[in-house]
Amino acid sequence: MIRYIDEVEITNKKVLVRVDYNVSFKKDGTINDDTRIKNSLPTLQLLLKGNNALILMSHLGKPKGRDMAFSMKPVVERLQTYFPDYKIGLVNDFLTDSALADASSAKASKTIFVLENTRFYEGEKKNDPIFSKQLANLAEVFVDDAFGSVHRAHASTVGVASFLASYGGLLLKQEVAMIKKVIEAPQRPVVAIIAGAKVSSKIGLIEKLMNVADYVLIGGAMTNNFLKAKGMEIGKGLVELDFIPEAKRLLDLAATEKKHIILPIDRRIGVKTDEQSAPTIKKVEDIGIEDETLDIGPETEKLFADIILQAKTIIWNGPVGYFENPQFAKGSIAIFNAIISNPSAVSVLGGGDTLSVIKKLPNKDKITHISTGGGAMLELIEKGTLPGLEALNK
Ligand code: 3PG
Repeated sequence: MIRYIDEVEITNKKVLVRVDYNVSFKKDGTINDDTRIKNSLPTLQLLLKGNNALILMSHLGKPKGRDMAFSMKPVVERLQTYFPDYKIGLVNDFLTDSALADASSAKASKTIFVLENTRFYEGEKKNDPIFSKQLANLAEVFVDDAFGSVHRAHASTVGVASFLASYGGLLLKQEVAMIKKVIEAPQRPVVAIIAGAKVSSKIGLIEKLMNVADYVLIGGAMTNNFLKAKGMEIGKGLVELDFIPEAKRLLDLAATEKKHIILPIDRRIGVKTDEQSAPTIKKVEDIGIEDETLDIGPETEKLFADIILQAKTIIWNGPVGYFENPQFAKGSIAIFNAIISNPSAVSVLGGGDTLSVIKKLPNKDKITHISTGGGAMLELIEKGTLPGLEALNK
């Protein structure tokens, strides 16, 4: 059983907290969306209230070795704005930096330490026991609040937990509870909208959801695999030819088990880079060899919305169109509008691209739970548990 920090008393300790501050950046280098930082604040505040000294750690991006383009500096600066009474101290290299030698003095100096990107160290992704122990040596207690990274078996998410008393943070607790709720005891009908570019990364998820959901609505470029599996022309859109047999298997499975996989019936066609011209709309059976399909069409929007409006539980991952071009964001916005028009349903959505689509839309408070995890949310639905959760389960 995982013990969470609000179920135990953690006071006067040095606490190593794994957060997921893998935030996205704008072109000018400023943070695009700091939800992950904001959502970690309750855990940090509770631990500070217990007079604990905090050492935070996170990865950021996918650096190859120590590459300052992936420094935690911008994150530290943003975190500072949330803790005006504290000094947020960036620890360049915790293996050599003497600032950390006595982290307990952090309490007196009101300092919260943040380690540089854990992926600057080779041992992190290898879940190396020596590196894990070096991390563990910094503290007396480990708290994992990095829901977005809990599907990674790395030193900072798994290895370190074997050396310290380990607990889950409040964000982790909320995320796991919400996702388990929609999977284990959902109110029916359950509708899952699964979209995105690659079917290969979501086959397992779709198969799992076929057991849980009454309707699985498919959108995005991955639609092409399913339409092609049905022998239809898909034009020039993205397709993973190796995965057409898998898409066919899922369609056959749905047919034999009387599950509903709902595919788009019409699509918007255009040019990815053209933000001016209105897209052409065609029924899926009329798609030509030269057509580039970039979004679901209005009839599909209506079909999907009708199903979503009947739902008691809604799970959404992945934009249904090439949302980077506003001409092809319409389908995803229609999905969002249908979800918020059914506020009595429990709705859970997540994934980096899904969050980007809805970022500027109003009424997000009508969504029951917006997950900070992309891969973590999907893998938790698919597998029921994750390495970082297992590591705390002792
Ligand atoms: C995420 O953004 O999904 C998590 O922070 C995990 O990042 P990763 O895919 O680089 O491991």
